[in-house]
Amino acid sequence: MHVVVKVLVFCATIILACHMATNSSLYRKSVFFFKGLSEFTRNGFQKAARNFQTSDLDGDISGLSYMITGANSGIGRSTALSLAGKGATVHIVCRNSTRGEEAKQDIVSQTGNDKVQLHLLDISKPRDVIKFADDFVKSDQQLDVLVNNAGTMVNQRELTEDGLERNFATNTLGTYLLSTELLPALEKSSDPKVVTVSSGGMYLMKLDSENFQFERCSFSGDMVYAQNKRQQVVMTRKWAESNEKVKFYTMHPGWADTPAVQQSMPDFHARLESRLRTPAQGADTIVWLCIAKGMTNGAFYQDRQAVAQHLTMAWTQSTTEEENLFMTRLEQVASRFRSN
Ligand SMILES: NC(=O)c1ccc[n+]([C@@H]2O[C@H](COP(=O)([O-])OP(=O)(O)OC[C@H]3O[C@@H](n4cnc5c(N)ncnc54)[C@H](OP(=O)(O)O)[C@@H]3O)[C@@H](O)[C@H]2O)c1
Repeated sequence: MHVVVKVLVFCATIILACHMATNSSLYRKSVFFFKGLSEFTRNGFQKAARNFQTSDLDGDISGLSYMITGANSGIGRSTALSLAGKGATVHIVCRNSTRGEEAKQDIVSQTGNDKVQLHLLDISKPRDVIKFADDFVKSDQQLDVLVNNAGTMVNQRELTEDGLERNFATNTLGTYLLSTELLPALEKSSDPKVVTVSSGGMYLMKLDSENFQFERCSFSGDMVYAQNKRQQVVMTRKWAESNEKVKFYTMHPGWADTPAVQQSMPDFHARLESRLRTPAQGADTIVWLCIAKGMTNGAFYQDRQAVAQHLTMAWTQSTTEEENLFMTRLEQVASRFRSN
């Protein structure tokens, strides 16, 4: 073997050994950050956008009905604005009446579309989510696409009034309950979809199938958030495998300048502010998944492309048994709230 090749093989072996020895956390963070700098920024979006087909968004959606959670702010608001601008019926789901009403009025006045309905719901309250979805199903209103966009990153361990860790209650359980409870409405559509706004942060975590309350480890808001976002990706893939009627997708919006990033990640925001995407750039792939045809069911999308669900050599893959256990445990938590 040529001496240069021998040296390269030796170096690669050392790097791999070090990587395995450090439980891959530092490796994952480094690879994630460098990937982010080249792909998740505004420049990354502009580079990817050179390959976008504008005709993908030409379809007539004026007869369709979309529901978007967390639509009063950031990426969700931009999504609602785009869909309303194309004449669709848009149900915006917000937890605060003042912020929700302001968003509704602004979307109606910017688009001239008055088919915008505001619903008040705190996604972190499981009984409220179930009641809201059941009432919506009973009302027999049309629903073609649900966009699970509402999300949070709470940096201290905090419990909701139901005793649930707040990030889990919002990001994982809220998404799970709203999606499953709305299935009877979605299944009446001719092309139903559930689009869940996950995050590239999920690349940092392997699925934890059972530790939903994060009480058995030191608490770090960004890692709990990353775990929730991994859980969204796994539940979406499992739904896609088991539901024959509805199509399910997750996506990463890239790094966009929104209140969530400003408030929950102030250091990250200060360092990268000039390189962050606009909310509309972050929303682009959500709008595309809502309108375009021919996407891969169960896949994770970034900039209109299905992308890998794991970083190379990051050891984040889970087994089928681990994923099935996760779905069973999650349903066990959900069913506690369904029965009372
Ligand atoms: N921005 C990024 O770089 C980035 C990157 C990856 C993933 N994401 C994901 O993108 C999604 C949208 O976030 P964003 O960046 O656009 O932030 P944002 O502007 O702060 O929007 C978050 C939205 O979620 C709502 N929300 C939070 N908790 C809720 C609850 N318990 N019930 C109902 N609504 C709730 C917020 O309502 P209030 O206004 O009432 O708080 C707000 O409308 C999130 O799922 C986030 O994880 C964002």
